[in-house]
Amino acid sequence: MQLDDTAKITQSKERILISREEIGTKVKELGKQISEDYRDKCPILIAVLNGGFIFCADLFRELTIDCEVDFIKISSYEDAMKTSGRVKLLKEVNAHLQGRHVLVVEDIVDSGYSVQYLHKKLQATNPQSLKFVSLLVKQGTERVPYEVHYVGFKIPNRFVVGYGLDLAQKYRNLPDIYVMD
Ligand code: IMP
Ligand code: MG
Repeated sequence: MQLDDTAKITQSKERILISREEIGTKVKELGKQISEDYRDKCPILIAVLNGGFIFCADLFRELTIDCEVDFIKISSYEDAMKTSGRVKLLKEVNAHLQGRHVLVVEDIVDSGYSVQYLHKKLQATNPQSLKFVSLLVKQGTERVPYEVHYVGFKIPNRFVVGYGLDLAQKYRNLPDIYVMD
């Protein structure tokens, strides 16, 4: 897959898989549901960098309850389009998670390696609860068992960019989600 420039991608409207309007509606829905489920629990959202930062920022602002945010950074793709299967920790969470209601915010779940890794790592901090929300979940690509409690969209096995998602670090700034393959 070649790296097109941003202008070329955004001109090809037929490559849009999920529009900014659809994303906006879904993020509002998720925010409403999470606000109900976590009422009086003051959850701490953990955005998974880099991909999760835009979704997390939008979701966070849809929450109508007390809440906090912190960040963790992991990597498994090494600028490629397939997971390497090895998850590396690039930045630790700084907040103290013991006894907290922790909600991990992912951009996309593909093989499940990242969610599995994060679940094991964060469960070891003894949170009161630990759940995952992902804007996208790819279908038919699961390689390890995982659980995601809130899912925005189930998508086919295509490589997507935009709204935080990258190909070799590019296209994260696109407001819509585009297919690249
Ligand atoms: P997993 O560990 O295979 O489930 O992959 C999860 C991570 O891989 C996501 O958080 C993304 O950073 C990245 N990823 C998976 N599929 C895509 C894609 O289609 N586009 C961009 N990044 C992706
Ligand atoms: Mg990611």
